[in-house]
Amino acid sequence: MDPLAVALVLVAVHFGTPLAYYVEAKRWLKKPWDVKRDLQHTPTVTVAIPTYNETKHIEEKLDEIYRQGYPRDRLEIIVVDSASSDGTAEKARRWAAAHPDADVKVVEEPERRGKAAALNAALAMARGEVFVITEADCRWPQRDALKRAVSWLADPTVGAVTCLKKPAADGPAGIEACYRGYYNVLRLAESKKWATPIFHGELAAYKTELLRKIGGFPLDIGADDSHTAAKIAAMGYRAVAAEDLWCVEAVPHNDYHKWRIRRAQHLLQHLLKTPAAEAPPPMRPILLAEKYLHLANPWLLPAAVALAAAATPPALALLAAGAAALAFKPYRTWTAAQLYLMAAAVKNLRDKELVWEKQGK
Ligand code: GDD
Ligand code: MN
Repeated sequence: MDPLAVALVLVAVHFGTPLAYYVEAKRWLKKPWDVKRDLQHTPTVTVAIPTYNETKHIEEKLDEIYRQGYPRDRLEIIVVDSASSDGTAEKARRWAAAHPDADVKVVEEPERRGKAAALNAALAMARGEVFVITEADCRWPQRDALKRAVSWLADPTVGAVTCLKKPAADGPAGIEACYRGYYNVLRLAESKKWATPIFHGELAAYKTELLRKIGGFPLDIGADDSHTAAKIAAMGYRAVAAEDLWCVEAVPHNDYHKWRIRRAQHLLQHLLKTPAAEAPPPMRPILLAEKYLHLANPWLLPAAVALAAAATPPALALLAAGAAALAFKPYRTWTAAQLYLMAAAVKNLRDKELVWEKQGK
Protein backbone atom coordinates (compact mmCIF):
# COMPACT_ATOMS: atom_id res chain seq x y z
CA MET A 1 0.00 0.00 0.00
CA ASP A 2 1.08 3.54 -0.73
CA PRO A 3 2.74 5.02 2.39
CA LEU A 4 0.70 8.18 1.96
CA ALA A 5 -2.54 6.16 2.01
CA VAL A 6 -1.38 4.38 5.17
CA ALA A 7 -0.55 7.74 6.73
CA LEU A 8 -4.05 9.00 5.92
CA VAL A 9 -5.63 5.93 7.48
CA LEU A 10 -3.56 6.42 10.63
CA VAL A 11 -4.61 10.06 10.81
CA ALA A 12 -8.25 9.08 10.34
CA VAL A 13 -8.03 6.51 13.16
CA HIS A 14 -6.13 8.92 15.40
CA PHE A 15 -8.80 11.60 15.17
CA GLY A 16 -11.78 9.36 14.48
CA THR A 17 -11.55 7.18 17.59
CA PRO A 18 -11.62 10.00 20.17
CA LEU A 19 -14.36 11.73 18.20
CA ALA A 20 -16.45 8.57 18.13
CA TYR A 21 -15.85 8.12 21.86
CA TYR A 22 -16.86 11.71 22.50
CA VAL A 23 -20.09 11.28 20.52
CA GLU A 24 -20.86 8.11 22.50
CA ALA A 25 -20.04 9.93 25.75
CA LYS A 26 -22.50 12.68 24.86
CA ARG A 27 -25.15 9.96 24.62
CA TRP A 28 -24.26 8.66 28.09
CA LEU A 29 -24.58 12.21 29.40
CA LYS A 30 -28.30 12.08 28.70
CA LYS A 31 -28.77 9.07 30.98
CA PRO A 32 -30.26 9.48 34.45
CA TRP A 33 -27.78 9.07 37.31
CA ASP A 34 -29.57 6.24 39.00
CA VAL A 35 -27.98 7.25 42.30
CA LYS A 36 -29.87 7.82 45.54
CA ARG A 37 -28.21 10.95 46.89
CA ASP A 38 -28.98 12.34 50.31
CA LEU A 39 -28.00 15.91 51.10
CA GLN A 40 -28.81 15.29 54.78
CA HIS A 41 -26.25 12.46 54.97
CA THR A 42 -23.55 13.44 57.48
CA PRO A 43 -21.16 10.54 58.08
CA THR A 44 -17.97 11.26 60.01
CA VAL A 45 -15.38 12.63 57.61
CA THR A 46 -11.60 12.76 57.63
CA VAL A 47 -9.99 15.27 55.27
CA ALA A 48 -6.36 14.46 54.51
CA ILE A 49 -4.01 17.17 53.27
CA PRO A 50 -0.57 15.93 52.23
CA THR A 51 1.94 18.76 52.12
CA TYR A 52 5.44 19.35 50.95
CA ASN A 53 6.60 22.98 51.11
CA GLU A 54 3.17 24.58 51.10
CA THR A 55 3.57 27.56 53.48
CA LYS A 56 2.00 29.77 50.84
CA HIS A 57 -1.21 27.76 50.77
CA ILE A 58 -1.71 25.73 53.94
CA GLU A 59 -3.55 28.35 56.04
CA GLU A 60 -5.95 29.25 53.27
CA LYS A 61 -6.64 25.56 52.74
CA LEU A 62 -7.36 24.99 56.43
CA ASP A 63 -9.55 28.13 56.56
CA GLU A 64 -11.50 26.90 53.60
CA ILE A 65 -12.21 23.51 55.18
CA TYR A 66 -13.05 25.18 58.48
CA ARG A 67 -15.60 27.38 56.73
CA GLN A 68 -17.33 24.39 55.17
CA GLY A 69 -20.80 24.03 56.56
CA TYR A 70 -20.06 20.52 57.77
CA PRO A 71 -20.84 19.58 61.41
CA ARG A 72 -17.57 20.31 63.17
CA ASP A 73 -17.91 17.39 65.58
CA ARG A 74 -18.07 15.03 62.61
CA LEU A 75 -15.05 16.43 60.82
CA GLU A 76 -11.41 15.51 61.35
CA ILE A 77 -8.55 17.13 59.43
CA ILE A 78 -5.17 15.45 59.11
CA VAL A 79 -2.22 17.33 57.66
CA VAL A 80 0.65 15.03 56.79
CA ASP A 81 3.79 17.00 56.12
CA SER A 82 6.81 15.25 54.65
CA ALA A 83 9.74 17.12 56.18
CA SER A 84 9.03 20.43 54.44
CA SER A 85 11.92 22.87 54.65
CA ASP A 86 9.73 25.98 54.57
CA GLY A 87 7.91 25.66 57.90
CA THR A 88 4.62 24.26 56.57
CA ALA A 89 4.15 21.96 59.58
CA GLU A 90 4.73 24.78 62.10
CA LYS A 91 2.19 26.91 60.28
CA ALA A 92 -0.35 24.12 60.34
CA ARG A 93 0.30 23.52 64.06
CA ARG A 94 -0.15 27.21 64.80
CA TRP A 95 -3.40 27.24 62.86
CA ALA A 96 -4.62 24.22 64.83
CA ALA A 97 -3.78 25.89 68.15
CA ALA A 98 -5.71 29.00 67.07
CA HIS A 99 -8.79 26.92 66.20
CA PRO A 100 -9.40 24.65 69.20
CA ASP A 101 -12.94 23.91 67.99
CA ALA A 102 -11.55 22.17 64.91
CA ASP A 103 -10.20 18.63 65.13
CA VAL A 104 -6.85 19.07 63.37
CA LYS A 105 -3.94 16.69 63.60
CA VAL A 106 -0.56 17.53 62.15
CA VAL A 107 1.68 14.58 61.36
CA GLU A 108 5.31 15.29 60.62
CA GLU A 109 7.13 12.65 58.65
CA PRO A 110 10.88 12.58 59.27
CA GLU A 111 11.61 12.29 55.56
CA ARG A 112 9.91 12.75 52.23
CA ARG A 113 8.57 9.45 50.95
CA GLY A 114 6.06 10.84 48.50
CA LYS A 115 2.41 11.84 48.47
CA ALA A 116 0.90 8.33 48.53
CA ALA A 117 2.90 7.30 51.61
CA ALA A 118 1.71 10.48 53.35
CA LEU A 119 -1.91 9.69 52.47
CA ASN A 120 -1.47 6.18 53.84
CA ALA A 121 -0.20 7.60 57.12
CA ALA A 122 -3.39 9.67 57.33
CA LEU A 123 -5.56 6.69 56.38
CA ALA A 124 -3.99 4.55 59.13
CA MET A 125 -5.15 6.98 61.81
CA ALA A 126 -8.35 8.27 60.19
CA ARG A 127 -11.52 8.04 62.27
CA GLY A 128 -13.95 9.17 59.58
CA GLU A 129 -16.31 6.85 57.74
CA VAL A 130 -15.47 8.88 54.66
CA PHE A 131 -11.89 9.70 53.70
CA VAL A 132 -11.48 12.86 51.64
CA ILE A 133 -8.24 13.84 49.97
CA THR A 134 -7.31 17.32 48.88
CA GLU A 135 -4.16 19.33 48.36
CA ALA A 136 -2.81 22.63 49.52
CA ASP A 137 -2.84 24.67 46.33
CA CYS A 138 -6.37 24.12 45.03
CA ARG A 139 -9.55 25.94 46.01
CA TRP A 140 -13.00 24.62 46.84
CA PRO A 141 -15.22 27.51 45.78
CA GLN A 142 -18.33 25.85 47.24
CA ARG A 143 -19.02 26.27 50.95
CA ASP A 144 -20.94 23.00 50.92
CA ALA A 145 -18.45 20.98 48.91
CA LEU A 146 -18.08 18.32 51.62
CA LYS A 147 -21.81 18.00 52.06
CA ARG A 148 -22.29 17.61 48.33
CA ALA A 149 -19.49 15.07 48.07
CA VAL A 150 -20.75 12.80 50.84
CA SER A 151 -24.34 13.04 49.61
CA TRP A 152 -23.36 10.77 46.72
CA LEU A 153 -21.88 8.24 49.11
CA ALA A 154 -25.25 7.82 50.82
CA ASP A 155 -26.00 5.42 47.98
CA PRO A 156 -24.63 1.95 48.83
CA THR A 157 -23.57 1.36 45.21
CA VAL A 158 -21.27 4.42 45.15
CA GLY A 159 -17.80 3.82 46.59
CA ALA A 160 -16.04 7.03 45.66
CA VAL A 161 -16.76 10.49 44.31
CA THR A 162 -14.62 13.25 42.86
CA CYS A 163 -14.98 16.82 41.57
CA LEU A 164 -14.78 18.44 38.17
CA LYS A 165 -11.97 20.92 37.69
CA LYS A 166 -11.86 24.55 36.61
CA PRO A 167 -8.40 25.83 35.81
CA ALA A 168 -7.60 29.17 37.46
CA ALA A 169 -5.90 30.28 34.22
CA ASP A 170 -6.35 29.32 30.58
CA GLY A 171 -2.77 28.09 30.22
CA PRO A 172 -0.46 28.74 27.24
CA ALA A 173 -2.49 29.60 24.12
CA GLY A 174 -5.64 28.58 25.98
CA ILE A 175 -4.89 24.86 25.91
CA GLU A 176 -5.46 24.14 29.62
CA ALA A 177 -9.01 25.52 29.66
CA CYS A 178 -9.88 23.79 26.40
CA TYR A 179 -8.42 20.46 27.56
CA ARG A 180 -10.28 20.67 30.87
CA GLY A 181 -13.58 21.34 29.12
CA TYR A 182 -13.18 18.17 27.06
CA TYR A 183 -11.96 16.13 30.02
CA ASN A 184 -14.82 17.24 32.28
CA VAL A 185 -17.40 16.11 29.72
CA LEU A 186 -15.78 12.67 29.52
CA ARG A 187 -15.51 12.29 33.30
CA LEU A 188 -19.18 13.13 33.74
CA ALA A 189 -20.34 10.91 30.91
CA GLU A 190 -18.32 7.93 32.15
CA SER A 191 -19.68 8.50 35.64
CA LYS A 192 -23.23 8.47 34.37
CA LYS A 193 -22.61 5.24 32.51
CA TRP A 194 -21.01 3.64 35.56
CA ALA A 195 -17.63 4.90 36.76
CA THR A 196 -14.76 7.08 35.62
CA PRO A 197 -11.19 5.74 35.85
CA ILE A 198 -9.78 9.27 36.28
CA PHE A 199 -10.14 10.95 39.69
CA HIS A 200 -8.87 14.27 41.01
CA GLY A 201 -6.72 14.54 44.13
CA GLU A 202 -7.96 18.10 44.63
CA LEU A 203 -11.21 16.69 45.99
CA ALA A 204 -11.93 12.98 46.11
CA ALA A 205 -14.03 11.23 48.76
CA TYR A 206 -13.88 7.48 49.38
CA LYS A 207 -15.68 5.17 51.76
CA THR A 208 -12.88 4.57 54.25
CA GLU A 209 -13.53 0.84 54.66
CA LEU A 210 -13.18 0.34 50.88
CA LEU A 211 -9.89 2.23 50.79
CA ARG A 212 -8.64 -0.02 53.58
CA LYS A 213 -9.84 -3.13 51.77
CA ILE A 214 -7.79 -2.27 48.68
CA GLY A 215 -4.72 -1.64 50.82
CA GLY A 216 -4.70 2.17 50.68
CA PHE A 217 -2.86 4.34 48.18
CA PRO A 218 -0.42 2.71 45.76
CA LEU A 219 3.26 3.42 46.34
CA ASP A 220 4.36 2.40 42.84
CA ILE A 221 1.99 4.59 40.81
CA GLY A 222 1.81 8.39 40.80
CA ALA A 223 -1.94 8.66 40.19
CA ASP A 224 -2.92 7.83 43.77
CA ASP A 225 -6.35 9.43 43.30
CA SER A 226 -7.33 7.59 40.11
CA HIS A 227 -5.84 4.22 40.91
CA THR A 228 -7.69 3.86 44.20
CA ALA A 229 -10.96 4.86 42.50
CA ALA A 230 -10.44 2.29 39.73
CA LYS A 231 -9.70 -0.42 42.29
CA ILE A 232 -12.87 0.43 44.17
CA ALA A 233 -14.75 0.31 40.86
CA ALA A 234 -13.21 -3.10 40.17
CA MET A 235 -14.86 -4.30 43.37
CA GLY A 236 -18.20 -3.47 41.75
CA TYR A 237 -18.82 0.00 43.20
CA ARG A 238 -19.43 3.15 41.23
CA ALA A 239 -16.69 5.78 41.25
CA VAL A 240 -18.16 9.01 39.94
CA ALA A 241 -17.30 12.60 39.14
CA ALA A 242 -20.19 14.66 40.50
CA GLU A 243 -21.83 17.22 38.25
CA ASP A 244 -22.25 19.73 41.08
CA LEU A 245 -18.83 19.49 42.69
CA TRP A 246 -16.10 21.87 41.53
CA CYS A 247 -12.60 22.69 42.43
CA VAL A 248 -10.44 25.50 41.07
CA GLU A 249 -6.93 24.47 40.27
CA ALA A 250 -3.88 26.70 40.01
CA VAL A 251 -2.10 26.42 36.67
CA PRO A 252 1.68 26.79 36.76
CA HIS A 253 2.92 29.89 34.95
CA ASN A 254 6.39 28.44 34.57
CA ASP A 255 6.96 24.81 33.80
CA TYR A 256 3.46 24.23 32.43
CA HIS A 257 4.75 21.58 30.03
CA LYS A 258 6.72 19.83 32.75
CA TRP A 259 3.58 19.76 34.91
CA ARG A 260 1.46 18.27 32.15
CA ILE A 261 4.09 15.65 31.35
CA ARG A 262 4.47 14.56 34.99
CA ARG A 263 0.72 14.21 35.39
CA ALA A 264 0.52 12.31 32.10
CA GLN A 265 3.28 10.00 33.37
CA HIS A 266 1.20 9.19 36.43
CA LEU A 267 -1.93 8.67 34.39
CA LEU A 268 -0.13 6.28 32.04
CA GLN A 269 1.26 4.30 34.98
CA HIS A 270 -2.26 3.97 36.33
CA LEU A 271 -3.91 2.97 33.05
CA LEU A 272 -1.16 0.44 32.30
CA LYS A 273 -1.78 -1.21 35.67
CA THR A 274 -5.58 -1.29 35.45
CA PRO A 275 -6.79 -4.35 33.56
CA ALA A 276 -10.06 -3.78 31.69
CA ALA A 277 -10.94 -7.45 32.12
CA GLU A 278 -11.22 -6.99 35.89
CA ALA A 279 -13.61 -4.05 35.64
CA PRO A 280 -17.34 -4.61 36.06
CA PRO A 281 -19.05 -5.02 32.65
CA PRO A 282 -20.45 -1.46 32.28
CA MET A 283 -17.00 -0.02 32.97
CA ARG A 284 -15.09 -2.25 30.58
CA PRO A 285 -15.70 -0.20 27.41
CA ILE A 286 -14.74 2.96 29.32
CA LEU A 287 -11.44 1.51 30.45
CA LEU A 288 -10.68 0.02 27.06
CA ALA A 289 -11.29 3.38 25.39
CA GLU A 290 -9.23 5.35 27.90
CA LYS A 291 -6.37 2.85 27.78
CA TYR A 292 -6.34 2.97 24.00
CA LEU A 293 -6.63 6.78 23.85
CA HIS A 294 -3.84 7.42 26.33
CA LEU A 295 -1.45 4.56 25.68
CA ALA A 296 -1.68 3.80 21.95
CA ASN A 297 -3.55 6.44 19.97
CA PRO A 298 -0.98 9.28 20.35
CA TRP A 299 1.66 7.22 18.54
CA LEU A 300 -0.37 6.99 15.32
CA LEU A 301 0.36 10.67 14.79
CA PRO A 302 4.18 10.56 14.54
CA ALA A 303 3.89 7.33 12.57
CA ALA A 304 1.66 9.10 10.04
CA VAL A 305 3.96 12.11 9.88
CA ALA A 306 7.00 9.90 9.27
CA LEU A 307 5.21 7.97 6.51
CA ALA A 308 3.92 11.12 4.86
CA ALA A 309 7.30 12.83 5.02
CA ALA A 310 8.79 9.87 3.18
CA ALA A 311 6.17 10.22 0.43
CA THR A 312 7.12 13.70 -1.00
CA PRO A 313 5.21 16.64 -2.59
CA PRO A 314 1.52 16.02 -1.85
CA ALA A 315 2.55 14.96 1.65
CA LEU A 316 4.33 18.24 2.27
CA ALA A 317 1.11 20.08 1.53
CA LEU A 318 -0.62 17.83 4.05
CA LEU A 319 1.97 18.45 6.74
CA ALA A 320 1.73 22.19 6.07
CA ALA A 321 -2.04 21.95 6.49
CA GLY A 322 -1.51 20.07 9.76
CA ALA A 323 0.79 22.83 11.01
CA ALA A 324 -1.55 25.62 9.89
CA ALA A 325 -4.44 23.98 11.73
CA LEU A 326 -2.60 24.73 15.01
CA ALA A 327 -4.32 28.12 14.85
CA PHE A 328 -7.52 26.27 15.76
CA LYS A 329 -7.72 25.89 19.57
CA PRO A 330 -9.27 22.41 19.95
CA TYR A 331 -6.76 21.00 17.46
CA ARG A 332 -3.88 22.77 19.22
CA THR A 333 -5.10 21.46 22.58
CA TRP A 334 -5.38 17.96 21.24
CA THR A 335 -1.97 17.97 19.57
CA ALA A 336 -0.32 19.28 22.73
CA ALA A 337 -1.99 16.52 24.77
CA GLN A 338 -0.64 13.90 22.38
CA LEU A 339 2.88 15.31 22.73
CA TYR A 340 2.60 15.28 26.53
CA LEU A 341 1.43 11.65 26.50
CA MET A 342 4.30 10.56 24.28
CA ALA A 343 6.88 12.49 26.29
CA ALA A 344 5.38 10.94 29.43
CA ALA A 345 5.60 7.41 28.04
CA VAL A 346 9.27 7.92 27.21
CA LYS A 347 10.07 9.53 30.58
CA ASN A 348 8.34 6.68 32.42
CA LEU A 349 10.95 4.31 31.04
CA ARG A 350 13.57 6.20 33.01
CA ASP A 351 11.93 7.69 36.07
CA LYS A 352 8.37 7.42 37.36
CA GLU A 353 8.53 10.82 39.12
CA LEU A 354 6.84 9.44 42.22
CA VAL A 355 8.42 12.23 44.21
CA TRP A 356 8.27 15.40 42.20
CA GLU A 357 9.52 18.94 42.17
CA LYS A 358 6.68 21.36 42.67
CA GLN A 359 5.77 23.53 39.69
CA GLY A 360 5.51 27.24 40.62
CA LYS A 361 1.92 28.47 40.54
N1 GDD B 1 3.20 14.78 52.43
C1 GDD B 1 3.60 14.93 51.17
N2 GDD B 1 4.74 14.32 50.75
N3 GDD B 1 2.88 15.69 50.33
C2 GDD B 1 3.31 15.85 49.07
C3 GDD B 1 4.49 15.25 48.57
C4 GDD B 1 5.24 14.45 49.48
O1 GDD B 1 6.27 13.89 49.15
N4 GDD B 1 4.63 15.61 47.27
C5 GDD B 1 3.59 16.41 46.98
N5 GDD B 1 2.80 16.56 48.05
C6 GDD B 1 1.55 17.32 48.18
C7 GDD B 1 1.67 18.77 47.76
O2 GDD B 1 2.15 19.59 48.80
C8 GDD B 1 0.22 19.08 47.38
O3 GDD B 1 -0.54 19.42 48.51
C9 GDD B 1 -0.26 17.74 46.79
O4 GDD B 1 0.59 16.74 47.32
C10 GDD B 1 -0.19 17.70 45.25
O5 GDD B 1 1.09 18.07 44.80
P1 GDD B 1 1.34 19.24 43.70
O6 GDD B 1 2.79 19.43 43.56
O7 GDD B 1 0.47 20.41 44.02
O8 GDD B 1 0.91 18.52 42.37
P2 GDD B 1 -0.26 18.79 41.32
O9 GDD B 1 -1.11 19.95 41.66
O10 GDD B 1 0.28 18.74 39.96
O11 GDD B 1 -1.08 17.45 41.64
C11 GDD B 1 -1.85 16.71 40.77
O12 GDD B 1 -1.14 15.65 40.18
C12 GDD B 1 -0.69 14.64 41.06
C13 GDD B 1 -0.10 13.52 40.23
O13 GDD B 1 0.88 13.95 39.36
C14 GDD B 1 -3.00 16.23 41.60
O14 GDD B 1 -3.99 15.70 40.77
C15 GDD B 1 -2.54 15.22 42.61
O15 GDD B 1 -3.65 14.71 43.32
C16 GDD B 1 -1.81 14.09 41.89
O16 GDD B 1 -1.28 13.21 42.87
MN1 MN C 1 -1.46 20.99 43.27
